[in-house]
Amino acid sequence: MKLGTALTASATKALLLGSGELGKELAIALQRFGVEVIAVDRYGNAPAQQVAHRSYVIDMTDSRAVKELIELEQPHFIIPEIEAIATQALVEIEALGKTTVVPNARAIQLTMNREGIRTLAAEQLGIPTSQYAFAETFQALEAAVDAGIGYPCFIKPTMSSSGKGQSMVKSADQLKKAWDYAKSSGRVDTGKVIVEAKIDFDFEITLLTVRALNKHGKVETHFCDPIGHRQENGDYRESWQPQAMTDAALKASQEIALKVTNEIGGLGLFGVELFIKDDYVWFSEVSPRPHDTGLVTLVTQKQSEFDLHARAILGFPVNANSHDIGASAVILANIDGQNVTYDGVDQALAVPESEIRLFAKPEAFTNRRMGVALATAKNIDEARSRAVKAASLVVVKPT
Ligand SMILES: Nc1ncnc2c1ncn2[C@@H]1O[C@H](COP(=O)(O)OP(=O)(O)O)[C@@H](O)[C@H]1O
Ligand SMILES: [Mg+2]
Repeated sequence: MKLGTALTASATKALLLGSGELGKELAIALQRFGVEVIAVDRYGNAPAQQVAHRSYVIDMTDSRAVKELIELEQPHFIIPEIEAIATQALVEIEALGKTTVVPNARAIQLTMNREGIRTLAAEQLGIPTSQYAFAETFQALEAAVDAGIGYPCFIKPTMSSSGKGQSMVKSADQLKKAWDYAKSSGRVDTGKVIVEAKIDFDFEITLLTVRALNKHGKVETHFCDPIGHRQENGDYRESWQPQAMTDAALKASQEIALKVTNEIGGLGLFGVELFIKDDYVWFSEVSPRPHDTGLVTLVTQKQSEFDLHARAILGFPVNANSHDIGASAVILANIDGQNVTYDGVDQALAVPESEIRLFAKPEAFTNRRMGVALATAKNIDEARSRAVKAASLVVVKPT
């Protein structure tokens, strides 16, 4: 792979579709190789736009707008960071053969809809998942639950992320409310919801899996140490690396991640979400891109998940090893408003081995992720308590 010079005719150009906090770190990782970064989002001054060479505000679900921008910019790489994208446009652009959609357009299509990836994993690849069904009407949902999924179960829009529209239902009388919530809160109403039996796991992990070229130009798969995490209402609050697990569970996790990512193909980093109980592993979902719980790798790995994604995309060799034990904890807003301020960063940084990243989102709203605290330590418990402490000391305030 030959690299060009940003902002000249030889530039190697990467277009980010979605410019959140994960895109920001990826933009920085790409710029360290002199790549020209163009950041796109549906609102201005999104985190990655603040560090990119150029930025655009467009409706990324509008196929025509996406195609026009790509025609204008002619990027070498299109890197989706979010799921709400006009994926058909990406399929068409990929077919022209001039641009690499990362990791590939089919992967983006398959993973943006829970139905695509779940059916592929469970039915085509025979990987263990929770028992599930799709329903287009409330009657069909009720019937699926009664026919075997049972309670407790999870109801989710087929297109949603960060727990939006998702609820856990413990008994029949709560089902209608969960149905209404899923129908009204999905990112795009596909007309369908997925219902999943609740897996009674000991813990859940993200297994960051990298498909990268080795020095012989062959694709090789690398695994980061497993990342444990804690979710609240379907959104991540804390993560840590490594998550202790049995050899058998780790082996099964890597086998599942290998099967899924082999099937998806392309080059890049994937966040494979798995549920673990004793030696048993269930596949939950996969992101064909850096994962929010993987923010912890900013302090635990020489090559963070963003460095790994950038290197893999560019065809460079990777090293997925970690050198430290660490944890992350999110900094959430508990107010709504614009140009907010941050108090307590000084105290937070006085917590040993801690780091704070603020995303500078132009608008805060309750429970919006505005930053993250990271910490290392000699063991997981200490790393977690340091990260949680540091995060709690940063307070988002009105101006
Ligand atoms: N079938 C399930 N059994 C147990 N927990 C689940 C199940 N589905 C979701 N969860 C919990 O909710 C979280 C978010 O669900 P997920 O399907 O990953 O949604 P999202 O795409 O919004 O991240 C999971 O990380 C897990 O903690
Ligand atoms: Mg998830």
